[in-house]
Amino acid sequence: TYVVTDNCIRCKYTDCVEVCPVDCFYEGENMLVIHPDECIDCGVCEPECPAEAIKPDTEPGLESWIKLNGDYAKTWPNLTTRRDPLPEAKEFDGVTDKLKDHFS
Ligand code: SF4
Ligand code: F3S
Repeated sequence: TYVVTDNCIRCKYTDCVEVCPVDCFYEGENMLVIHPDECIDCGVCEPECPAEAIKPDTEPGLESWIKLNGDYAKTWPNLTTRRDPLPEAKEFDGVTDKLKDHFS
């Protein structure tokens, strides 16, 4: 499966939802997550994210993101159409360690 990681936070460009063939993105206030049981591992969303926030879960060091995506995908609502990015998206793109300070 693929997972959404730190750089989505406070950017939320949503280009990813437009290309996902199974509509498995779920929306929180500041980021999206991927439902691990619904993702078919096609990989098309990965290059579409302007923030390069989507990674295959086979990459090392993603354990906390795998858990976060799985947990929030159960409670957040499904998002299937693109929205405008968050107003602060440019400012936050590339800021490191956003989970700690900017995830709410
Ligand atoms: Fe959707 Fe494919 Fe991305 Fe999984 S890898 S979230 S199925 S676009
Ligand atoms: Fe987030 Fe990238 Fe999608 S910033 S909303 S994972 S296009």
